[in-house]
Amino acid sequence: MIITIANESGGASKSMLADNLAALRAIAGRKVLLLDNDPQHASVNWCAERQASGKRPQVAARPISGKGLQPELENLAYRYNDIVIDTESRDSLGSRSALIAAHVAIIPVDLECLEQLNEAKLLARIDTARLFNPGLRILVVAICAEEPPCAEKMAVVRNFVASIPAAQLFHTAIHSGSALRLAFQDGLSVCEYQPADREAISEMKELCSEIFGR
Ligand SMILES: Nc1ncnc2c1ncn2[C@@H]1O[C@H](COP(=O)(O)OP(=O)(O)OP(=O)(O)O)[C@@H](O)[C@H]1O
Ligand SMILES: [Mg+2]
Repeated sequence: MIITIANESGGASKSMLADNLAALRAIAGRKVLLLDNDPQHASVNWCAERQASGKRPQVAARPISGKGLQPELENLAYRYNDIVIDTESRDSLGSRSALIAAHVAIIPVDLECLEQLNEAKLLARIDTARLFNPGLRILVVAICAEEPPCAEKMAVVRNFVASIPAAQLFHTAIHSGSALRLAFQDGLSVCEYQPADREAISEMKELCSEIFGR
């Protein structure tokens, strides 16, 4: 399965979700590839950090240009069970191609940065992708720092989801607590971080099941 993590907002946790989901699939024994279409290479660096610390399983990652994405995916799709594509916020050939190629698009929406949610531009990008990829599944994931998430902010997210045809909102917010952030800095998934944060692990595992099936 090809999944693309996309959003117009910077710092919406695209890379953090991409890296966690790729690691969880690798831990589950799947042959997984993390493609990094962001020139900042956060996901490639995350995997390098993981490799440097000797963490197993390794997660294969490589940068990919917008131009190379579509032709390379045609070959890579046969070689990997799952491909997770981390995209840049900018509307670019790469971020568009990644949505056209995906089975599932994950749109993280950080409740702390709702003012950065450029709905119109993101909707235009999704509309274009669906012209070429009408079966694209869209799953919006709320990312929040507080528990419970602010009801007013969640209402904004629900309105956003309702504006995207056939989009779903993941049933629980992902809490961007310290375990998730510290794990991310160290090249770990939240499931590998010690001390274990049971709730954070459970949220990420549920998200993984929602995307890839149980
Ligand atoms: N090295 C780091 N140390 C601490 N916090 C970080 C680090 N990198 C990112 N963050 C924070 O973690 C959260 C998730 O970042 P992430 O890189 O996943 O976002 P992103 O959507 O991929 O951003 P971008 O649009 O820049 O690619 C953000 O709030 C960000 O500020
Ligand atoms: Mg990123």
